[in-house]
Amino acid sequence: MSIQERIDELISKINQASYEYYILDNPTMTDQEYDDYYKELLILEEKHPKFKRPDSPTNRVGGNALDKFEKVTHAHPMLSFDDIFNEEEIRAFDDRIKKTIASPTYTLEPKMDGLSGSLIYEKGLLVRGATRGDGIIGEDITLNIKTIKSVPLRLTKPIDIEVRGEIYMSKDAFLKANIDRRENNENEFANPRNAAAGSVRQLDSKITAKRNLDFMAYFIPNPEDFGLKTQSESLAFLRELGFVTNYKLNQKANDVDDILKYINDLAEKRPHLPYNIDGVVLKVDNLNDEKVLGYTSRVPRWGIAYKFPAEEVLTTLREIKFTVGRTGKITPNAIFHPVHVDGSLVSKATLHNYDYCVEKDIRVGDVISIRKAGDVIPEVVEVKLDRRNENVKEFTMIDKCPMCNTPLIRKDANHFCPNEHCPARKIEALIHFVSRPAMNIDGLGENIIEDFYNMKIISSIEDIYNLKNQKEELIELEGFGKKSIDNLLNSIENSKSNSLEKLLFAIGILGIGAKTAKVLAKKYHSLDNLMNASLEELTSIKDIGDVLANNIVNYFKDEKNIELINNLKKIGLNMEYKGEKSLYNSLISNKKFVITGTISFMGRNEIKALIEKYDGITVDSVSKNTDIVIVGDSPGSKYDKAQKLGIEIWNEERFKKIIESL
Ligand code: IVH
Repeated sequence: MSIQERIDELISKINQASYEYYILDNPTMTDQEYDDYYKELLILEEKHPKFKRPDSPTNRVGGNALDKFEKVTHAHPMLSFDDIFNEEEIRAFDDRIKKTIASPTYTLEPKMDGLSGSLIYEKGLLVRGATRGDGIIGEDITLNIKTIKSVPLRLTKPIDIEVRGEIYMSKDAFLKANIDRRENNENEFANPRNAAAGSVRQLDSKITAKRNLDFMAYFIPNPEDFGLKTQSESLAFLRELGFVTNYKLNQKANDVDDILKYINDLAEKRPHLPYNIDGVVLKVDNLNDEKVLGYTSRVPRWGIAYKFPAEEVLTTLREIKFTVGRTGKITPNAIFHPVHVDGSLVSKATLHNYDYCVEKDIRVGDVISIRKAGDVIPEVVEVKLDRRNENVKEFTMIDKCPMCNTPLIRKDANHFCPNEHCPARKIEALIHFVSRPAMNIDGLGENIIEDFYNMKIISSIEDIYNLKNQKEELIELEGFGKKSIDNLLNSIENSKSNSLEKLLFAIGILGIGAKTAKVLAKKYHSLDNLMNASLEELTSIKDIGDVLANNIVNYFKDEKNIELINNLKKIGLNMEYKGEKSLYNSLISNKKFVITGTISFMGRNEIKALIEKYDGITVDSVSKNTDIVIVGDSPGSKYDKAQKLGIEIWNEERFKKIIESL
């Protein structure tokens, strides 16, 4: 047997063994045999690299580290479903479907709690793996995807196909990854989803390979091209191709009672599954029905995601601690005995303001239930009044600032510290200034800012930029060293060249979030222009209301603020909008466009003008030189021609998303 033949044979044997293990749940090869074949293959490939095949299992250990991930445009936008949370909403969904489809059948699938990925196969060979990104543009993570053992590197059929599914980490792999991290003194992952997300976006695929990710296939964007007629056929086809699907748990249902039963049964199985799920995905089974139902401007109408209720955990309230924000707003916070909620340890939650506390009648010593709102931020759901100990004291609001003792003032539901020199306000303002969405200065975490403030190393924003004059002293501080101070000073210097919107957000004008800062920077280009803008002019901007416009004008009337800005100018901070050639912009510039059919939200001439504004070219007929065809309602023969020539097609929804992002 020639070397190449032996390599081919080893690859077939090993891939067959993986297939039997992962897909058929029926391993036939012992671990020892597998290891022996694998080692032999590795040695042969090392000696004869020219025979190394792209579907060789030795690719699963990862390759050279990348500098960055390339961006990729999805051929079909990667959407997600709307979420629903209860029986009523399930019934409403079913009623809505029944308005169009007389007696629908649904496929019910566990909603995997990971992140979605798109895999592209050409002639049966895995050629690309990508993240969802924003649904239109994702990142090329092919090397990382190849490390996932449940992703077939070669399909059982030599076809071209895109397959979507969930990249996830099993509960076991998660526990192991965290043991590793503890041993290496690294922060543990909060939950398997975060672990999967962090692992799949590693530039070094060798790290990804160690994390033992998994892939569950659930969707083909163009099933009709493979003669499939239902979603359940799609799932069966995916399994036939060599993918792991949830074939034991996926089920069909004909009415809401079936759906509710499925949800209840699955909720019971949930703790015993080897991976996390966070709900049930409902899809109309018949692909023709799917087509008829179609899409709204955002989401498919033919499916929906039911989410299990968030986990609620009981704990005891230890203390209500008041904090002062950068505007002086006083926030009461619940400090409770630490508890695990949805995988992470939490010990505090905001109680928003005085009215909220009174309404909940929350008291130190109470038993309270905690859950994560929107999957991240802990909140107090309920005070268990029936478990209240009679001697707990009623909540009382403080009347003086906990930091500077200034009497508080009340505005609506909130209390404020009116002292502009309140150290708490200053510290919060500094923390905000350096934060990632603001000036993005690395190495000045909340605790460091607080320490530096108390040590009088930093009292104002200007002081941050003067830290370089105290370099030697800083290096001597406990917990620092030359390297960390060098990094910090570098990061501070780099922040000077930030585009205007970051500075505008960082200086903390009341009510100006990162998004509004960008609108203003884009519109005015320089801080000087914005400072000269009149109230009328500001209110005429789409996203700026009366209150915000007033805040802006007032901010720039204040001597102190003008002094800050002048100082920052002297220090050398950039005060101009640098713009950015957005990715979407580059999707249009120098591309040849043809438009066919009616776009509901924009006239033909308007579309042409818009494309030209972004340096695109519009032409009337489709040829092989056309780059993109925008297809609206009732398209003409240009659509067929574009499809024949394999030209990129943007439907109305996609076009809308792109122009909204320009
Ligand atoms: S189908 C158009 N099936 O949950 C959406 N998604 O909103 C096509 N997910 O972001 C996706 N399990 O990442 C589908 N069995 C399943 C799923 C699933 C988890 C995720 C997916 C998507 C979200 C649904």
